[in-house]
Amino acid sequence: MRMVEVGPRDGLQNETAPVPSEAKITFIDALSYSGVDEIEVSAFVSPRWVPQLDDAERVFAGIARREGVTYSALIPNRQGLDRALAVGVDKVAVFTAVSETFNQKNINTSLSGSIQRFQPVVRAALDTGLPVRGYVSTAFWCAFEGRINPQAVLSVVEQLDGIGVDEMAISDTIGKASPDEVRQLLDLLLARIPANRIAVHFHDTYGRGVANTLAAWAYDIRTIDASVGGLGGCPYAPGATGNVATQDVVTALEAKGVETGIDLQQLNRASRVLDSYLVDDRRTLPLDGSPACAACEFATGEVCCRKYTSSE
Ligand code: HMG
Ligand code: MG
Repeated sequence: MRMVEVGPRDGLQNETAPVPSEAKITFIDALSYSGVDEIEVSAFVSPRWVPQLDDAERVFAGIARREGVTYSALIPNRQGLDRALAVGVDKVAVFTAVSETFNQKNINTSLSGSIQRFQPVVRAALDTGLPVRGYVSTAFWCAFEGRINPQAVLSVVEQLDGIGVDEMAISDTIGKASPDEVRQLLDLLLARIPANRIAVHFHDTYGRGVANTLAAWAYDIRTIDASVGGLGGCPYAPGATGNVATQDVVTALEAKGVETGIDLQQLNRASRVLDSYLVDDRRTLPLDGSPACAACEFATGEVCCRKYTSSE
């Protein structure tokens, strides 16, 4: 399986107060030791649209990259790609939606406008040797348009496929999908696109994120997005809460006998790095672990090795 930790991007893009770049860097460094495969570090979007992530360059420059971990970012256009390439992003994620209304509110263009905008971005990323993910937002429900037709989702997936996108992240932006709806959509998509090119990105507004993830797992989907502590939400999707919590997904999969290779205690430590910065703390999980040890590869449980710090 591939666990994609989106907390630093999807989580922190929705915070009401700015989280200092240094805290983001410590948070990401801590996540790098948790065993997740990929970390979505930030977004190279317009700082006027998402001021919370206006320090994407600083954060990328500050993190200590760990071998084996992919450090990706959200990219809306060519300007964003140039910024991301300058700091050595490992993977590019473009994003559009099935809902025209959501696209206008989120990226100020239509679906077809977004595909046109992505074409040169995807080509340049692939030419540089970078893999490309394409988010398909509002794949089940939209806050403005209601239930989304699965055929329309397939059409967006095919358009992204047509411009060379490697991985499609099927996204329940407002967290309203049910496992039956997940199965219905996957029945359709998997007839056209292999499971290893599909990722799932569930928000947890109605508490169905884990059930939906397990429904996708049963369809052999192995790339799973989550955010530590269920942090997050989209500033342009009213009412949506955070992603399904990484800890919940890990616990559910391990209960099924899947060896995720992810260290829950380290995830909790990483989460604690943010404790004093989240003004409106919407995280769903109990916090434990040691903030002092969060970014330390040698920490064991609650015991500090004192290699990098003299006090805990
Ligand atoms: P626009 O205003 O139409 O863009 O925004 P523009 O091309 O007309 O440019 C306007 C100004 O923005 C210019 O500056 C550009 O330079 C600047 P000015 O000349 O006026 O000073 N600009 C940029 N600056 C820095 N980096 C850039 C960039 N692009 C333009 N890349 C745009 C269009 C797409 C840029 C804007 O709408 C935008 O940034 N939107 C992003 C919104 C966003 O990040 N939403 C949250 C992420 S999506 C999400 O959470 C869903 C997801 O999690 C999956 C799911 O759950 O569904 C992925
Ligand atoms: Mg999201």
